[in-house]
Amino acid sequence: MLSTLALAAIAVPFASAASLNVTDPNGYILYTTVTGYFLQDDPATNASTFNYTQNNFGLIDQTYPATANLTNLTQWQAFETQVNSLNANAPLNTVYKVLFMGRHGEGYHNAAESYYGTPAWNCYWAELKGNSTTSWVDAQLTSNGILQAQIAHNFWLHEISTQKIPQPQSYYTSPLSRCLATANITFSGIPTPEYYPFIPTVKELLREGISIHTCDHRSNKTYIHDTYPSYAIEAGFNEYDEIWNGVTAEDNTAHNYRMLRFLDDVFTSDDHTWLSFTSHSGTIASILAVLGHRTFSLATGAVIPVLVKAEFLSSAPTSTSTGSYTTSTWCHNGPPISSVSSLAQGCVCQSTTAPLPSLNTQAPFVPGQTAPINEFTTTTTVVTSTSSAKGHHTTSHHKGPGGYPPWWGPRPTGW
Ligand SMILES: *[C@@H]1O[C@H](CO)[C@@H](O)[C@H](O)[C@H]1NC(C)=O
Ligand SMILES: *[C@@H]1O[C@H](CO)[C@@H](O)[C@H](O)[C@H]1NC(C)=O
Ligand SMILES: *[C@@H]1O[C@H](CO)[C@@H](O)[C@H](O)[C@H]1NC(C)=O
Ligand SMILES: *[C@@H]1O[C@H](CO)[C@@H](O)[C@H](O)[C@H]1NC(C)=O
Ligand SMILES: *[C@@H]1O[C@H](CO)[C@@H](O)[C@H](O)[C@H]1NC(C)=O
Ligand SMILES: *[C@@H]1O[C@H](CO)[C@@H](O)[C@H](O)[C@H]1NC(C)=O
Ligand SMILES: *[C@@H]1O[C@H](CO)[C@@H](O)[C@H](O)[C@H]1NC(C)=O
Ligand SMILES: *[C@@H]1O[C@H](CO)[C@@H](O)[C@H](O)[C@H]1NC(C)=O
Repeated sequence: MLSTLALAAIAVPFASAASLNVTDPNGYILYTTVTGYFLQDDPATNASTFNYTQNNFGLIDQTYPATANLTNLTQWQAFETQVNSLNANAPLNTVYKVLFMGRHGEGYHNAAESYYGTPAWNCYWAELKGNSTTSWVDAQLTSNGILQAQIAHNFWLHEISTQKIPQPQSYYTSPLSRCLATANITFSGIPTPEYYPFIPTVKELLREGISIHTCDHRSNKTYIHDTYPSYAIEAGFNEYDEIWNGVTAEDNTAHNYRMLRFLDDVFTSDDHTWLSFTSHSGTIASILAVLGHRTFSLATGAVIPVLVKAEFLSSAPTSTSTGSYTTSTWCHNGPPISSVSSLAQGCVCQSTTAPLPSLNTQAPFVPGQTAPINEFTTTTTVVTSTSSAKGHHTTSHHKGPGGYPPWWGPRPTGW
């Protein structure tokens, strides 16, 4: 996994003030998980029964080289000293950062998947906007999900008072509502150090794996801004969701490549060491894969810390696998007989009806895409990326070829 990902790591075209010296246009950043500090990276820890609130976030009790002669430090204070020492002694091309990655609390889509079962969810219900009583488009948190975020909030307060845990210096969140809300409930009202206020940056790249599920279709930028006016929305963030189209899904390779680009963005633009990401099960799993961390599935609302070593290496990778988007099919005539739980879905529909690509498309921004008439659209073909079936006009000037933002698709050749 690691060697493949090392090859997949990409060049970074600009230098950062105080983190990595990334001046070499042929260079790339290699990310690795530094193991031995957290229970979550120990193969003996069972992810399905692990509870981060009962294990000090998973930090292993031990003495570090940098704290051998120090007494009366809490374990987190000792770890902070150790991380500072790693950075102070690191060569110029290397930085260490600690990522606190939190999965959103339970959303209505999670509850619905449990309620209907995964085959029925993947092949039918997830492609609808909801059922007669519940909406799961850009799913909101359930009351249980709110409670899970409150548990995270209370645990942070507890760790700050008893452990003097280093607090995040920067916060990043997925633009999907369940993460915006989870970050808010988790961190609002927690006293922060003067220089490190809770002002999360909304990052398009931190969203969940792109599927045809309506829960992953994000709301518009105006809604995000109006609902969370204190949040910072990254430059270039489109008013409308130009990525989700209800027809094609991102494969695991494409997802991993996206998370590599997200890490490159953060590690070359953010000098801070202690970072918080609020995101999704699939996206956090993908970040862990890029970091060479073992698989560690998070329950809704759970948090995993990872110590990351990032090295800027000058030799160019020989190949980069960018993955692809493929058309997903689903059963338009009702819940399936069975399905394979994957993005390709493998739905076996009722009677003789074949699984079909989506009719439920909301793909107004993807040029050339055929968008069948349905509850979302009134015309059948979208001609350009700046006009839509509904007459919307995107104001973004950050689109690359194909209507995607430049950082989204394959990296340009020559980097
Ligand atoms: C950064 O890397 C470039 C190219 O390898 C090198 O010329 C330069 O001296 C480095 N900068 C520092 C501060 O080491
Ligand atoms: C992890 O825990 C789950 C739930 O108790 C159990 O079913 C599973 O077998 C355990 N896995 C291992 C590797 O022990
Ligand atoms: C983890 O432990 C906390 C505190 O004991 C508890 O409130 C929470 O429900 C537990 N979480 C899970 C998923 O069991
Ligand atoms: C700890 O003390 C020993 C003995 O005085 C010394 O050799 C060692 O360098 C010290 N370690 C640190 C990290 O200060
Ligand atoms: C260290 O902790 C011990 C036990 O809690 C306490 O007795 C001692 O005074 C502390 N020492 C310092 C230097 O704070
Ligand atoms: C709709 O889905 C929710 C799960 O999100 C479930 O609790 C509810 O019972 C469902 N409503 C109907 C009418 O089946
Ligand atoms: C953000 O969280 C605070 C504290 O839990 C809450 O009072 C507020 O309503 C939340 N804001 C939104 C928009 O959810
Ligand atoms: C943005 O989304 C909100 C909530 O879905 C909706 O009410 C509003 O009309 C949308 N605004 C624009 C400009 O499309």
